[in-house]
Amino acid sequence: MKKPANFQDGIHTSDFWDFYKEKAIQNSVIADFSRGKESLSGIWQYGIDQYDTCLRNKWWLEHEFMHDGRALPLDYSFDNWADVHIPSCWNMQCEKLFLYEGGMVYTRKFLYSRGENERVFIKFGGVSGRAAVFVNKTYMGLHEGGSTPFYIEVTDVLQAENRIVVAVNNTRRPDSVPADNTDWFNYGGIYRDVELIRVPKAFIKTFQAGLDFIRIEVDGADTGTAVLRIPELNYTAGINVQNSRGEAEFSADPELWSPENPQLYEVEVEFITACGGTRDKISDRIGFREIGVQGREILLNGKPIFLRGISAHEESVINGKAVTEDEIRENYALAKEMNCNFMRLAHYPHSEHASRIADEIGILLWEEIPVYWAIEFDNPAAYANAENQLSELISRDINRASVIIWSVGNENPDTDSRLEFMSRLTEKARELDKTRLITAACLVDHGTLVIADRLTEKLDIIGVNQYYGWYDPDFSKLPTVFENSNPAKPVIISEFGADCRAGFHGGSDEMFTEEFQLAVYEKQIETLSNIEYIKGVSPWILYDFRCPRRLHYMQDYYNIKGLLSADKTHKKLAFYAMQKFYANLN
Ligand code: GCU
Repeated sequence: MKKPANFQDGIHTSDFWDFYKEKAIQNSVIADFSRGKESLSGIWQYGIDQYDTCLRNKWWLEHEFMHDGRALPLDYSFDNWADVHIPSCWNMQCEKLFLYEGGMVYTRKFLYSRGENERVFIKFGGVSGRAAVFVNKTYMGLHEGGSTPFYIEVTDVLQAENRIVVAVNNTRRPDSVPADNTDWFNYGGIYRDVELIRVPKAFIKTFQAGLDFIRIEVDGADTGTAVLRIPELNYTAGINVQNSRGEAEFSADPELWSPENPQLYEVEVEFITACGGTRDKISDRIGFREIGVQGREILLNGKPIFLRGISAHEESVINGKAVTEDEIRENYALAKEMNCNFMRLAHYPHSEHASRIADEIGILLWEEIPVYWAIEFDNPAAYANAENQLSELISRDINRASVIIWSVGNENPDTDSRLEFMSRLTEKARELDKTRLITAACLVDHGTLVIADRLTEKLDIIGVNQYYGWYDPDFSKLPTVFENSNPAKPVIISEFGADCRAGFHGGSDEMFTEEFQLAVYEKQIETLSNIEYIKGVSPWILYDFRCPRRLHYMQDYYNIKGLLSADKTHKKLAFYAMQKFYANLN
């Protein structure tokens, strides 16, 4: 229908997102470990945009004058807005913003001096919810998925002086991934680093160096040759690139990576276009290992392993979801102190530093996409969102030895539409990465007391969340569940636990005491340790975390199932029970 003359786009349209959704930023990850990066983190300006007016009225066009030069009234003033340091969560900036969910516009200026024959990308390590990006009044695209990195090519729009505008919206929506009901706090912001990256006209987009193969994908050229080198092993392999991709055998015989021996090698990959006109050379520090399952065993480098784990969210009291590398190292140190060799990074992709540091210090990881609870499993857009987050996570961490498991979701009811949705995700994961194990955190069938979820057919490992002793006080059901179940593959108890207020003591039958939580852990440990097919445990959770669903006065807006207090200064009694259990497993 023709719009009437008095139709005003910024006011009379409710479907303004449709325009922005037409330019989805997907699958944009670039292998960038050794690439030069120019930081665009630091001081930005930001404005609270509750009604998404920046997108409705297209502030990013910066229409400040009429065609006859008369100034127009503006509802924004990018340079006069408040300063904010990026990366950060807006919730942690001031009391007024703590609970804010909605639109926030970030902007900054930056200088750029063009190099020879280069292409330029801007990388966002992670932005909550949706992010619409504009550079020099040009719409660059919309990224959905609040925990995976995305890269935007800006080669043709950069000038000497530039302005970037990012319209962020972290509003929880039933059609998103995750949907609008989660058991964690919904932080908002550009909460991971922003960097400018220069690459040659034809460059190595991603590569995977497995134990016996190397795969490479290039951008900007169809054919050429690539060479992989591992100087410490005096190893070189050539790869022929056709249709921008190449794969070759690999037989370097490296020392295998393991938590006990986190051996990393400098791996160099060089690509030369067929005409020899362009070359790109990058490197990464990679550990070589093999993970597999055989019957009910999990095999690391061919040997059975028990995954002595703990679950963790990505958040801290001070920084919210914008955790620092020091905080990541602190979490791993606490896990190691508990005698862990494994961590479940729930319920979404954590920072890229998490897997890189795990490679260095030797801890195995379960990484997960937030297909959490009630997703719109019949909605193709929700599937595309989930699949893109999975692809971006796998592309980002494809060479991280510590990552042994991709999880396609958590605690979803066993319906037909969920089975279809998550089966497709498992197939996608295997297509993208043949070398890792696929799982999901499934629910016990509480009616028949058995581990029975149709999705398990598609999994390598069955994750099982169960809270006998807490949500179901009848602990006697747990041994019944295990007796009734006969899985043909390994099971990881991906969650068990109980609430406990740090420092609150009393009888073991008094809820919220440390003694109560300890009693639950002791009964869980006693039961689990006798089940032959359980090959891993990741109790819920390392430390207490913010959660808007937890309003009991003892919880005080926190999920307090942690084995430590939220600030990690207090270890609860159950921490020591896990520490002892794992020590005795060695
Ligand atoms: C669920 C869920 C967690 C949640 C936990 C709890 O299993 O996976 O995200 O925090 O139980 O209820 O504490």
